[in-house]
Amino acid sequence: MKKDFLLLSQYSREELLSLLALAAELKEMKKSGEPHPLLKGKTLGMIFEKASTRTRVSFEVGMYDLGGSALFLSGSDIQLGRGEPVEDTARVLSRYLDGIMIRTFEQKKVETLARYASIPVINGLTDFAHPCQVIADLLTIQEHKGGLEGKTLCFIGDGNNMANSLIVGGIKVGMKVRTACPVNYRPDAGIMEWAAANGDYVCTDDIAAAAAGADVLYTDVWASMGQEEEAEIRRKVFVKYQINDAVLAVAAPEAMVLHCLPAHRGEEITAEVLEAHADEIFDEAENRLHAQKAIMVHLMR
Ligand code: CP
Ligand code: NVA
Repeated sequence: MKKDFLLLSQYSREELLSLLALAAELKEMKKSGEPHPLLKGKTLGMIFEKASTRTRVSFEVGMYDLGGSALFLSGSDIQLGRGEPVEDTARVLSRYLDGIMIRTFEQKKVETLARYASIPVINGLTDFAHPCQVIADLLTIQEHKGGLEGKTLCFIGDGNNMANSLIVGGIKVGMKVRTACPVNYRPDAGIMEWAAANGDYVCTDDIAAAAAGADVLYTDVWASMGQEEEAEIRRKVFVKYQINDAVLAVAAPEAMVLHCLPAHRGEEITAEVLEAHADEIFDEAENRLHAQKAIMVHLMR
């Protein structure tokens, strides 16, 4: 049966660890210049209904590195954007391609695409989840901290797609996860409940309490793609939810800082903190490439 990569909750701890190991191996090969055409002759279609820099470039370069090719399918250019049903799009694309990556709004659309496609479907971000990013994030934490289990990850800000996926990924690999979010902007209730029942998870609106002793501080924009009209209101609601020197002062002494990017300096993170942790944050961005390749090899080989 074909496999998809839609949500981290559908992957076991062992599967996630093996994806991380594969990503690390592919990174080694890339760095040493060793060819690794594991998907020779295969083609990935990439549907984008939202903007992207990292996801698009990492999937496209990743396919090239693996000996295959990638097609950029802008949501506004393909018939999907003019109302062709996702069920039909899935069946048509399955006749041409070996895999589909989709970035869109509703999680349900991705699930429907996967149900009707006979080829693997990868979630390249929805309003609900960003699982590909979290594979890159965990790889980066592993590299910088020498491991994942028992480390404390603190996410500060909007309980959005990033928060949802980080909670699931972090808990699955045995991290302690803290989220500091305003009361009406908490992560998905079902995910929070699952996390508290299956690991060490706390959500609070007390930023200092969430960040205390954290090994990894993580943040994301206050207004995600599709929430542009709420940006002004959100700027007021989230004003305290920023990674700055005061937050770093209560975290573990060698705490690392991650951000999925793009970042809004002066909002969710100060320019000073971003620049002081640029090595970690841009390693994280680089790791999207290695993570994406691992996901594609896992699904499409
Ligand atoms: N982090 C991330 O997904 O970046 P893009 O929106 O540039 O793809
Ligand atoms: N939460 C952000 C993540 C971007 C990578 C968004 O959905 O816009």
